[in-house]
This record gives sequence, C-alpha cells and structure tokens, in this order.
Amino acid sequence: MRRIHYETIDSTNSEARRLATDDVREPLLVTAAEQSAGRGRHGRQWQSPLGGAWLSLVWPARQPPVAYAAVSLAAAVAVLRALRELAARSPERFQVKWPNDVLVDDCKVAGILCEQRLGGGVSPDVIIIGVGVNVNFDPAMLPSDLRHPATTLNTALGKSFRVDDVIDAVAEHLAAALESFESEGLGEGLLTELRDSLAYVGTMRTWSSPGGAIQGRVAGIDDAGRLLLATPSGRIAYETGEFAETRSP
Ligand code: BTN
Repeated sequence: MRRIHYETIDSTNSEARRLATDDVREPLLVTAAEQSAGRGRHGRQWQSPLGGAWLSLVWPARQPPVAYAAVSLAAAVAVLRALRELAARSPERFQVKWPNDVLVDDCKVAGILCEQRLGGGVSPDVIIIGVGVNVNFDPAMLPSDLRHPATTLNTALGKSFRVDDVIDAVAEHLAAALESFESEGLGEGLLTELRDSLAYVGTMRTWSSPGGAIQGRVAGIDDAGRLLLATPSGRIAYETGEFAETRSP
C-alpha cells in the first residue's frame, strides 16, 4: 500500500481529503508523527503528540455511498484485531465501545473518524478512515477533561511499541476488514467479533442521541450494527448517538 508520511500535519484526515482530489484509484495511507489540529468525532479535538499512531486510510469506494453506513464498525473490529495481535496476550482486555472507540481496561486507547469524499462522477468516491492510537507518550499529555478516561498502549501493557509496527498492523487489518465489508457488509465474522468484544453489555448506561438522553440496559447490537438499548419503553435500536459518561447504578 502506498504511504505518505509527514513529520507534522494539521490532520491526516484533512490531508487525506486534500489528496483525494487527485486521481486516487488505489488505497493510500497518510501518516504523521504528530498532528497540530487532530480531529475527533462530533467536531472534537484529538490530541496527537509524538508517540502516537496517527493515520488515515484513503479507500477508493467500490460500492455506492449508502453501502458504507456501518463502515466505522468494520474499522473498529480491524483496530481491535490489530491491537490484540500487538498485545499478544489478554485479548479480552480490549473492547469496542460502540460505535468505534477501542478500550483497554475500560480506558480509551484508540479512536476512529470515518469520512466520505464524493467524487461527483469526476473522480472516485473515497472513504477516509482516520485512526488514532495512543502508543507510547505520557497520558498526562492528554486533556484532563476527556469524556472517557484515556490511556496509551505503553501504560496499559507495561511495554513500549514501535509506532510503525502499530501503523502497519492497523493498516493491514483495516484493508482486510474493508475488503470483507465491501463484499458482504457486516457479515457474520465482523458481527460476531463485534458482539463478543462489545463494552458495557448488560449494564445500565445513559445514552445521548439527537432526541435527548435516555437510560437503558445495553443489550448488544443488531445485524445492521445498531446499538440495542433495553429501556422502560422497550428495546430501541440506535444508529446514531453515544454513551454519556455519567454512569447509573
Ligand atoms: C474520536 O474518537 O473522536 C476519533 C479520533 C480520530 C483521531 C484520528 S488521528 C488520525 C486521524 N486524523 C485526524 O485528524 N483524526 C483521525
């Protein structure tokens, strides 16, 4: 896979978007040692100091845009697989917090930002999968007011990792998961892994969605990848929203 690396860039996702205006017909990996304006989901900032794996995979789409609604879940499984492989033991310590945060011991170690760039019939549509993995830096460099406690692979696992090894593993698993997703969507393999590694199943949580906050017991995910919440008014399947960080008994 072709790779373009920067020592510093504003955001690998933004750079991927700029590069995708060229005629990108093959997957392209954009990486940076550090980002000055890393972007997270919901317009949040993403701290990206040296010692993290900051990458964006530019993926020329082979399916129409609507087919990619659940692609971020496939990406989450890919990152989960990569980190479990690198950790080499205790895979159960790694979980996915719906839709696509990867946790180790309930602390966020990786985040994913999926974006689409439509070519308008002039160039191919591309999917941009941005992944940030906190690898070796001191977690004290992260803001103290994060919505979810965060850590690094080094801190959680007690050993340091080569950032390039993390990038290689994530890119390889992302490419495989995207191939699989494009041929069969969230097929049995991806769904089973997602269900087996889903955080908070069976616990009461507060869910924030555009319609407001609601409490319910996490009941898993359906075949479309929607989060299932058992609420006083019945089971609800959410395709948007996120866990609020306030926990209930
Ligand atoms: C999130 O959890 O909010 C998603 C974080 C995604 C961060 C990665 S780092 C590489 C890529 N470039 C960005 O600006 N964001 C993504």
